[in-house]
Amino acid sequence: MKEQIEQIMLHAKEEVEQASNLPSLNEVRVKYLGKKGELTAVLRGMGGLSPEERPVIGSLVNQTRDEIELLIEQREEQFKKQELEEKLKTEKIDITMPSNKESIGSIHPITQIINDIKEIFIGLGYEIAEGPEIELATYNFDKLNTPPDHPARDEQDTFYITEDIVLRSQTSPMQARTMEKQKPPIKIICPGAVYRSDNVDATHSPVFHQIEGLVVDKNISMADLKGTLEIFTKKCLGENTKIRFRPHHFPFTEPSAEADVSCFVCGGKGCRVCKGEGWIELLGCGMVHPNVLRNCGIDPKEYSGFAFGCGVDRIAMAKFGIDDMRLLYENDVRFLKQF
Ligand code: DAH
Repeated sequence: MKEQIEQIMLHAKEEVEQASNLPSLNEVRVKYLGKKGELTAVLRGMGGLSPEERPVIGSLVNQTRDEIELLIEQREEQFKKQELEEKLKTEKIDITMPSNKESIGSIHPITQIINDIKEIFIGLGYEIAEGPEIELATYNFDKLNTPPDHPARDEQDTFYITEDIVLRSQTSPMQARTMEKQKPPIKIICPGAVYRSDNVDATHSPVFHQIEGLVVDKNISMADLKGTLEIFTKKCLGENTKIRFRPHHFPFTEPSAEADVSCFVCGGKGCRVCKGEGWIELLGCGMVHPNVLRNCGIDPKEYSGFAFGCGVDRIAMAKFGIDDMRLLYENDVRFLKQF
């Protein structure tokens, strides 16, 4: 039996050396050490041995098993090392190869205009406020002196999520949100997307952008509003820009006005952009209605304020010579790259 075990050891050693990869090495392991392997068979045959021989043969089998195991492990290590070396060789990185070109996007024309306008107002000491696009109808309408039966709600028909929650139809709700949170003096602008249930065409989109402005302090007058808007339009549209005010009505301002600027494309002579008028309608504005101040916990006897809301898309279109509003929302990189 001793010889048999020695033979097993010899053969196993040979076969381990001959194994050319991990799977064939595994076959060797099963053949010699497995449950149905050759060493196990020897153990099974020990029944016929004398009590003196049994422990001798038993420990010889165990020793052989350990040795074969060690041989297999060492061979396994060799294979793994080889594999790694090959991998390192084939996966070498050529650092002299040119890299993949990163394609960097550009700032959307609307964002560019918003950034420019923010810059101007920050220079005038304003803070930037941001509010939710999904807004409570109370803030979008009621607190702005526009109760449920007010006709202005039809003009600003928007998307209702529930009866009380809407996609804001204007940035004006930020007036109320700011006044509720903050004591005067208040000086903010709020840029952002607004929504109306308009059909899409060259000059309409169900989503567009506005910038709201609000100033509340002691002794704020219409003169402050006019002066501020004059500075803003000159800085934004060019030093020669003129501004004119037309009386208008908004529920949340009294008095209210719409402001036009001299066409910044033709300078006021009349062109395609201003439709021959020489003027472009730019924004709505006015003195904050006392009811709105009261609704937001500010005493209209002590404080007054002005507000304005300015369309951004139209400025972007005129400034960049874009004649179809849909282009601003298609996000076609070939178009956007031009600005
Ligand atoms: N929110 C108005 C609109 O979308 C624009 C507006 C008018 C805003 C007058 C104002 C304002 O702040 O004072 O038509």
